[in-house]
Amino acid sequence: MTEILMEDLALQLVERSKGILAADESTGTIKKRFDTIGVENTEENRRDYREMLFTAKGVSDYISGAILYDETLRQQASDGRSIPQLLEEQGIIPGIKVDMGAKPLAFSDGEKVTEGLDGLRERLADYYQLGARFAKWRAVIEINDGLPSTYCIETNAHALARYAALCQEANIVPIVEPEVLMDGFHSIDECYAVTETALKSVFDELYKQRVVLEQMLLKPNMIVSGLQCPEQAEEDEVSAKTIYCFEQTVPASVPGIVFLSGGQSEEQATANLNKINQSGSHPWELSYSFGRALQTSALSTWQGKKENVDAAQAAFIKRCKLTSLARDGELSEETN
Ligand code: 13P
Repeated sequence: MTEILMEDLALQLVERSKGILAADESTGTIKKRFDTIGVENTEENRRDYREMLFTAKGVSDYISGAILYDETLRQQASDGRSIPQLLEEQGIIPGIKVDMGAKPLAFSDGEKVTEGLDGLRERLADYYQLGARFAKWRAVIEINDGLPSTYCIETNAHALARYAALCQEANIVPIVEPEVLMDGFHSIDECYAVTETALKSVFDELYKQRVVLEQMLLKPNMIVSGLQCPEQAEEDEVSAKTIYCFEQTVPASVPGIVFLSGGQSEEQATANLNKINQSGSHPWELSYSFGRALQTSALSTWQGKKENVDAAQAAFIKRCKLTSLARDGELSEETN
């Protein structure tokens, strides 16, 4: 793969009409997904499933980059090409999840801190050799009964910044992902307050640790009601509060904000993204880095069967197309 400046690569990932496919589920998480369709969690099945997504005809019209799990970055497609090579030949930039997951935070009330900094410099050098040009690190922040604590927010922000600095040193664009979980009974305003505090803390750490903002992307949650909250906010409120939150916290030099879907349905995630992109112009591109909201239909159509591959690819491309329209603010009610 050719050398490209990190600021150019960041812009390429959030090019108009395109966004990122998060296909970096850990072996444990993909098992949960496969369990829903009764497919055994073998290395071959994981490869076949991902290969099906990456080779869908027209995928690069909508997908600029794909985040992979370590195993996938090292895997070969059924025709013998490496997966990063297959992606590059499709015009998709390979990315890599580099965190080692959220682990219990010492002396906290059940909160988590993301691990994976030890040896990261060496792993990043290896990932670059294997073709990865951008990376992801996800911090998890839960809203629940007095949580999150400042301790949890600050510890995770510090780790995110350490990761981001190491990525840039290795010529890899970091995606910085502080995810405020949707799970819970909290209101949209509680989601707003926690997300604002978390983002302020993250950008404070990024600044202190000399991370170049033009060479990164932010991957946040949208500002939404908790999944179990009886009063669910509509798209207009989600869009207004999400944008306002970024105006308060995200410097204009950050080139792009790529949302996670976080447990929203495919339709809800695209409807919200569409509204957000209809809200006028902003300093950052507002795009997607969805996992479930791009894959749910494809996975349930596939069912692990060869004869379903064409239909599953069609279902995947349909979601890609609708998400791409939403990223441009051009989705209409009939099309979603
Ligand atoms: P979801 O869109 O399914 O939340 O996944 C995105 C992601 O990469 C979370 O880290």
